[in-house]
Amino acid sequence: MNSEKVEIFDTTLRDGEQVPGCKLNTEQKLIIAEKLDELGIDIIEAGFPVSSPGDFHSVSEISKLIKNAKVCGLTRANKKDIEIAAEALQFARRPRIHTGIGTSDSHIKYKFNSTREDIIERAVDAVKYARSFVEDVEFYAEDAGRTDNDFLARICEEVIKAGATVLNIPDTTGYCLPEEYGDKIKYLKENVTGIEKAILSCHCHNDLGLATANSIAGVINGARQIECTINGLGERAGNTALEEVVMILKQHRDLNLYTDVNSKMLNKMSALVSDLMGMPVQPNKAIVGANAFAHSSGIHQDGVIKNRETYEIIDPAEVGVNESSIILTARSGRSALAYRFKHIGFDVTKNELDFLYQEFLKIADIKKEVNNDDLSLMIEKATRKIG
Ligand code: KIV
Ligand code: ZN
Repeated sequence: MNSEKVEIFDTTLRDGEQVPGCKLNTEQKLIIAEKLDELGIDIIEAGFPVSSPGDFHSVSEISKLIKNAKVCGLTRANKKDIEIAAEALQFARRPRIHTGIGTSDSHIKYKFNSTREDIIERAVDAVKYARSFVEDVEFYAEDAGRTDNDFLARICEEVIKAGATVLNIPDTTGYCLPEEYGDKIKYLKENVTGIEKAILSCHCHNDLGLATANSIAGVINGARQIECTINGLGERAGNTALEEVVMILKQHRDLNLYTDVNSKMLNKMSALVSDLMGMPVQPNKAIVGANAFAHSSGIHQDGVIKNRETYEIIDPAEVGVNESSIILTARSGRSALAYRFKHIGFDVTKNELDFLYQEFLKIADIKKEVNNDDLSLMIEKATRKIG
């Protein structure tokens, strides 16, 4: 069976930048956008041009700069937003307008004080208007996660007729369970006339920690685009983490899906975004966290030293990390200690190791982590004692 491509739509500069404290200036956005292009991202959502003159400027400058990826600007379903986005995107080699409207009953009632029929009409008008500026128009059905599937199918059908090329099905509130989200995508695949003319896209939020799982359920059921951010940044608990979906598709070849992302750049990309946004990455973050390839318990360390694959499913080099690390703590065993001594140039015998291990435990019980300086000092003291 031939493998199929999943497009990666990065929204670090739009949804990610909405995070309080993560605001970037144009220069910083250009640095990130250029790296995203190098990383192999298919679509870069550069911003929400109508939201501020600064964001308009950023989208416009990113449009001029980017050589490979499509550059996308977000709008609401109204003429002014769309005109301004089209203007900001005018220099893009491959522009995309991302327009849409809330489709759940709660959005229709409380946000718009409107009706389903009116929402369909507004969506269709917005897509048609956006198509008068660009060929590539993505429609988002905001809060699709809580939108009734029949109505979602109807609105999708109408916006495809109006010219939408991509249908974004956001789980805006991060409410869905993976099976439920996957079924939603399947339902649309099976019930929307003309669905073969559009790509279905997953945009999942992480309020229940399910964003990545939901996006994967989406592509298993026929979606072919994932919207995600570096380090999973985004509104509230964040979006689907780009590095996670890329590595899941890479590790699970059985899914027959791939992306064009150069995974070897993931670690550096994560650090760049974290630095520029001033948003630290949690140490236990999958793929890019400081502890993602660190082993500290004796049993695990012994296994990894014998064969990396005993406790690692990803070769760290695949994501741009030099090597797995063996962290020395009071839970470490002799083999980890010998391994670390060897690393700093000391090949110790079994008897020496037995002695040094007792010394090591004394230090490890006091300190959280025993480092190379401690190890050198231990060797120095032991040599003095023996010598
Ligand atoms: O979460 C969401 O619904 C969004 C849309 C604006 C695409 O970010
Ligand atoms: Zn979102």
